Amino acid sequence: MTSHHRSSFSPLAQADWRYVEKVSLEDFQPEDWQLLNAQRQDYLSQHQADQALRMLTASEHDPAFGYMVNNFRHCLQSATMVLRDGRDEEDVVVALLHDVGFITCPLLHGDFAAQLLGAYVSDRNYWMLQHHATFQNVHSPHLPGVRQHERELWKGHPHYDWTAEFVAKYDQAAADPSYACEPIETFVPMVRRIFARKPVDRRTTTLETQAMKESR
Ligand SMILES: [Fe+2]
Ligand SMILES: [Fe+2]
Repeated sequence: MTSHHRSSFSPLAQADWRYVEKVSLEDFQPEDWQLLNAQRQDYLSQHQADQALRMLTASEHDPAFGYMVNNFRHCLQSATMVLRDGRDEEDVVVALLHDVGFITCPLLHGDFAAQLLGAYVSDRNYWMLQHHATFQNVHSPHLPGVRQHERELWKGHPHYDWTAEFVAKYDQAAADPSYACEPIETFVPMVRRIFARKPVDRRTTTLETQAMKESR
């Protein structure tokens, strides 16, 4: 391989990293996969939290479309309120990132946040993130076309009460321009600690649930 070719390779972030110099996945051997996964895991453990935070701070100066605060500030207020209520760090981080997908994935932004954080948070917060937008509807009685009480479909679900509490206290009430939010820096170490947890693989449940639904 000439240096000319190598210059078009993606960078190696660390001196002891190596390329797998094969262009088809079909040629990758077990030891190649092991190498790639180890190098990726190493990188993720250092950068995953910071990239998630960058997604949020990308919208720091976005417009608010006529609301008094923008989505970034809404997220900061939500997280600050959870923090000041003395809730645990996971709840704070979940509040901070609950609407991180609002700009890039508005209609399914709850699922977006759930999938982003799902590997690192409890079932209770995974479920809450997925359903918070639907639960929020009860607080928007005059939103045109709103299915205000759709959440009643989940009445009796173990995470119903937490989701209802989250939207009532920390979501629908977190758009007050006079509220003194903590700066993002307060939350950075918390986000890093949550993403440093040992990840849970939720893919099986998700795929099985999907397959069950589709075969009905
Ligand atoms: Fe939301
Ligand atoms: Fe929200």
